Amino acid sequence: ELVNHFHRSAFHFQPPKHWINDPNGPLYYKGFYHLFYQYNTKGAVWGNIVWAHSVSKDLVNWEALEHAIYPSKWFDIKGTWSGSITLVPGKGPVILYTGINQNETQMQNYAIPEDPSDPYLRKWIKPDDNPVAMPDYTMNGSDFRDPTTAWLSKDGHWRTLVGSRKKHRGIAYIYRSRDFRHWVKAKHPVHSKESTGMWECPDFFPVSTIDFENGLDLDYAGPNAKHVLKVSLDMTRYEYYTLGKYYPKKDRYVPNGDSPDGWDGLRFDYGNFYASKTFFDYKKNRRILWGWANESDTVEDDISKGWAGLQVIPRTVLLDSSNKKQLVFWPIEEIESLRSSYVRMNNKDIEMGQRLEVKGITPAQADVEVTFNVGSLEKAEPFDTSYTYKPLDLCRVKGSNVTGGVGPFGLITLATPDLEEYTPIFFRVFKDTSTNKPKVLMCSDARPSSLEQDRGPLNQDRMYKPPFAGFVDVDLADGRISLRSLIDHSVIESFGALGKTVITSRVYPVKAVKENAHLYVFNNGTQTVNVESVDAWSMERPLQMNNGAT
Ligand code: FRU
Repeated sequence: ELVNHFHRSAFHFQPPKHWINDPNGPLYYKGFYHLFYQYNTKGAVWGNIVWAHSVSKDLVNWEALEHAIYPSKWFDIKGTWSGSITLVPGKGPVILYTGINQNETQMQNYAIPEDPSDPYLRKWIKPDDNPVAMPDYTMNGSDFRDPTTAWLSKDGHWRTLVGSRKKHRGIAYIYRSRDFRHWVKAKHPVHSKESTGMWECPDFFPVSTIDFENGLDLDYAGPNAKHVLKVSLDMTRYEYYTLGKYYPKKDRYVPNGDSPDGWDGLRFDYGNFYASKTFFDYKKNRRILWGWANESDTVEDDISKGWAGLQVIPRTVLLDSSNKKQLVFWPIEEIESLRSSYVRMNNKDIEMGQRLEVKGITPAQADVEVTFNVGSLEKAEPFDTSYTYKPLDLCRVKGSNVTGGVGPFGLITLATPDLEEYTPIFFRVFKDTSTNKPKVLMCSDARPSSLEQDRGPLNQDRMYKPPFAGFVDVDLADGRISLRSLIDHSVIESFGALGKTVITSRVYPVKAVKENAHLYVFNNGTQTVNVESVDAWSMERPLQMNNGAT
């Protein structure tokens, strides 16, 4: 039975009960958005995984359908793991997914809709000529999974990537097919990187370097594009991506020289966000990103809540027009249809130690956008570029209470008025000592979020309250920087500088819940900052949130 627990999200995608992980096979087809996802039919921990399936007309209200794929054949009897969907002309949508056989070997399979004219795509067939790709003796049969959406190249071949590893080297294999049935592995991986471990859930897509409004479909082969390769690292449960060039004739991807490849790479999201996947939305010509946010409370908590995991609000993905060196992300516009009560504040100076309350909305279920103006950078703390600071180390030492020059300033969310519990999301502006340019740190810090004890990251049975951080690549030429947070009881998604840096965090306050949660704008830097505007909305629960697979 479903308990309406006070940590349960209201407007995020979540089935009524049990465990979920990766988003699978997102697609727009015949008027419906489809989302499949890894789902445990039996409980709130990982296991018994099927492809659960929901559809939506607007990416906000969802309707659950019967499970699309579940273990039933020799080639997937021990698991139906992650994969994707490709629209194949003449065939309709085709699923590629990873099946696990009796010996725990991973292999790639396909499935086709029983009736491609059904916009719901309710029934899926797994033909008997599966699998389409088996690991050969040179490959790692227990690390060979998560096929990407395929694309059709000019040479008449379909191509897809499959994640893998050899010892500590992360690998993305590339396969070719003429008929979407017989697949041949290219001689070399499309890309690989030493010391990164297994590459789960690769994603590979082009972005335009001149059009900053529309996304590109996978088969785009014209000029003015870069490719993005994202991988999910199972050792640390975070993802990174590079921007680079794809050479179709050689079947090679080469990251750009200024796009770090490895543990210090760029991230779609610097917080609790994993196994993400994009798709091209033919309806609105945009590329949309889905991603999974796991719980960070204890396994015990999950079992007693009866559910674990949610999907973040889908985000559009574009190349950053200002530097063309990174991507920018923004919650899909449809989510704004859930905005209800609204408050606005204008032009307020906040001095050091001051905190302004945002009243008149529901702070535990809200969408808030703030624009700050920092004025002068004179008081900014020096940033010594001869030392390579990791943003997370800085955030750990310089929390929201540690007085700075310019900043920390930002939002205090899910707070009790006495700040016994609170989750701050904030910026801290440093000044690069060699160039005098600003270096901006963004943190979302769960350490003070809950009175419940953190039992440390190595304890499986833990409540985990980590700080998360990333740098924000802005020049602050006009002094402005914005922050938007989507707050939904136990999940906070924050977008710095219009989506240049994104951080998702899961938090579990015990007092700052429902009506007892408060929202503030704050400044703990010696420099006064101006809040040019705050726009805040209560968020409604979607009318139809029956994501419930049973
Ligand atoms: C990523 C992942 C995938 C796998 C799936 C199994 O979270 O481990 O690599 O296909 O989850 O549920």
